[in-house]
Amino acid sequence: MRLILLGCPGAGKGTQAKLISQRYHIPQISTGDILRTAIQQGTALGKKVKEIVESGHLVPDAVVIQLVQERLEQSDCQNGFLLDGFPRTVEQSEALQHLASIDYVIDIDVPEEEIINRLSGRRIHPASGRIYHIQNNPPRVAGRDDVTGDPLIQRPDDREETIRKRLQVYQDQTRPLKEYYQHYKGNNGSPVPRYVKIDGAGTVDEISNKIFSILDKDKCKETIK
Ligand code: AP5
Repeated sequence: MRLILLGCPGAGKGTQAKLISQRYHIPQISTGDILRTAIQQGTALGKKVKEIVESGHLVPDAVVIQLVQERLEQSDCQNGFLLDGFPRTVEQSEALQHLASIDYVIDIDVPEEEIINRLSGRRIHPASGRIYHIQNNPPRVAGRDDVTGDPLIQRPDDREETIRKRLQVYQDQTRPLKEYYQHYKGNNGSPVPRYVKIDGAGTVDEISNKIFSILDKDKCKETIK
């Protein structure tokens, strides 16, 4: 199972990616998590992208394409993977065609009014990437990760001004991918991914049940074959 999760900032991609990854035993590849880890560790990549990520702009295509290429070459991706936050531009989608074929593009659609509330209330555990929300999905102890008890943080790009910038960048550069995948006809006979739009307004469980019902059907077909 090779999947792409599309959706604007705060649509719930990371939240759903973790649930999909657990259910189907495929790795979650989050370009945002990879970049944040590099920033936190102060690597050469981290230093190069810190300002870009924290201001809500996109990292250059060549940088993320190389990251994803290297990640897809690892052995745990042989039986499938879930791309969360990549591709984000038409150029990245075109590069991906040369790296792997994709079965599903799942597009989580959430109205913009809901996004500011979701992102301004988000808290994360930086070491694991676990995601909380102060009202919708609070940790058991306020401000602490459920598993390790470590303090939770607010992402620097979750300030309201930067959220608005990210939404603008999404409209300009990532939203065109909806159309791109809806009309994509494949490349040199490669399989055409199925584009599925999911209404992302609802609880986390409601959204994951919708996604599982689609992917489970496919799993069933594979078993019958
Ligand atoms: P990235 O980390 O990918 O951020 P994003 O796409 O902006 O998405 P988010 O992580 O903000 O939101 P999400 O959809 O995962 O929502 P979540 O599940 O957390 O990228 C960050 C930056 O890295 C980019 O701005 C860019 O600079 C760079 N970058 C990354 N990839 C790149 C690429 N390919 N090319 C170039 N640059 C790249 O949920 C949000 C909140 O809502 C949480 O608090 C959660 O608990 C809550 N929530 C989730 N679902 C629900 C629900 N159903 N109901 C109520 N609350 C919910």
